[in-house]
This record gives sequence, C-alpha cells and structure tokens, in this order.
Amino acid sequence: MQTLSDRPTARTFRATDSGLTAEMRAAFETDGYLVIEDFVPMDLCDRLMARATELVGGFDIEAHRTVFSTKSVAHATALYFQESGDAIRFFLEEEAVDAAGNLTRPKELAINKIGHAMHDLDPVFSEFSRQAHLAALAKGLLQDPLLLQSMYIFKQPGIGGEVSWHQDSTYLYTEPMSCIGFWFALEDADSSNGGMLAMRGGHRGPLRQRFRRLPDGKLETEKLVTTPWLEKDVVNLDARKGSLVVLHGLLPHYSSANRSTRSRHAYTLHCIDGACRYPADNWLRRGDHLPLRGF
Ligand code: FE2
Repeated sequence: MQTLSDRPTARTFRATDSGLTAEMRAAFETDGYLVIEDFVPMDLCDRLMARATELVGGFDIEAHRTVFSTKSVAHATALYFQESGDAIRFFLEEEAVDAAGNLTRPKELAINKIGHAMHDLDPVFSEFSRQAHLAALAKGLLQDPLLLQSMYIFKQPGIGGEVSWHQDSTYLYTEPMSCIGFWFALEDADSSNGGMLAMRGGHRGPLRQRFRRLPDGKLETEKLVTTPWLEKDVVNLDARKGSLVVLHGLLPHYSSANRSTRSRHAYTLHCIDGACRYPADNWLRRGDHLPLRGF
C-alpha cells in the first residue's frame, strides 16, 4: 500500500506565451492533469484574495447559513445552493457551526467557499478568469470553451473540510464529456494544508457518478459504477502560489481536511465545450438573463 512518504509529486511545467505546448498536451492526455508553475503573477493572486475578502464582508450570514459538505447532502436540499449557478453565494464550513447552529468563529474564517458565477458577475473575478494566458490554454484544450462555474475555496486553517474522491464531470456533465477544471493556487498548497491528490491516468476510466436535478427539482447522486474507488497511482498535486492545475473532468482527485494553521485559498474555474450538449438535468443551471460566455 502506498504511504504518504512514498507518494510521488506531479511533474511541473512553466507557462508559455503560446498556450498549450505539444509536451503539455501529451502529458495531459497521459496523466489527466497539468501543473503549471508561475502561471499567475503574485500581485494578481493577492488582488483576487482581497476581492474575495470584500465579497465576504458584504455577505449577510444571518440570512443564509448553508453548510457545504462532500459527506452530507444538507446543502443539496437548500434552495440557496440549488439556485447558485447564476449567482454569488457563500457556503459555510461544517465545523464552523455548532449543534445549535451558531458560528464558532468569525465569519471570514467560517466560509468554505463562494460560488458559482463570480466569473460573470464580478468584474475582478471576470478579469482574472479571462486572462490571456488562460484563454490561450483553454482554446488548446477545447474547441469552444465556455466558462460555466467558478468557486473560491478557502480551506480554512484548522477546519477546512475534506473533499472526497470525485470526478468533476459528475457535477458538470456534457455529451460527449468535455468538462475541464482550472484550479489556481492563490497560496502555497501541499499535503500539510489540504493540497490536492489525484490518481494519475485515472481519467481513462469511466464516469462513476452523476449529480442530477430530478423533475421535482431535488438533487440526487446517481451511481453509474458501484464498485468502490481503487486508490491507484496517487500523486501529490502540490502547487505553489501562482500555479495553475488543469484537471480533466474524469480525473479522480481528492483533498484532505486542513488541520494546519495555514489557510489554502484557491480559485477554480470550470469550462465546457460549446460544441457539446449540456443536458437540462445538470444541477447547475442559469437563467436566460445570464447566458454562458467564453473568453
Ligand atoms: Fe473537483
């Protein structure tokens, strides 16, 4: 069995002006991920973090106390979550709320994530999400990349929740499948503060689950593969501040709880291909007022 100490770390690339190089394409096809260092300048990371702090400052926590957890379905039953595909909404860490529903820490240290349309609704997030280097890279991977979902993930010190093994195409499904995740480290992320792990090459396996919206509006997880996850060829996706991690939609990935004293802020943007069909039973949907846009 693989232990923490013998788990390899993913190879890294450097950003280029020409977007996706042939070497990057080959690695992405083989591994299902890319780690590109120094993709975003430090000051741009700081600017996005400052903007997230401003957004949290304007959040009325008394009005919405929705906890996000990958281990329970409580958030999936909340309209506040169900209708967040074309909004900017705030979800709390499970361990930031006590049994009586009260916050156990200040608001800015209690939030798990912000989602899911900052990239279209907030000018600072929109500019970050449409930076030229990223557009070039996305256009090398997808025929007609559309920016579908954004999340700002806090992975708070001490309580940042575990994100269990999953594939992003479970949540953002197209026919044929086209979801690609662009995950930006806004702070250093490694195994000590809840950095990501992935199963190298695991994107060549089938989609295991679909998170769907039923005709009555309820969200449910449909199991397509019932055998348990086999943790195989697991690598650390360590990412220094400013790194971009690109994730194939079928790549199994995971991040542990953050029990350290360091936060691990990250921003993630998911694109799909406009050439593919986006079925109406996807959980994430948008009103006609906010059509999907590209770069
Ligand atoms: Fe993910």
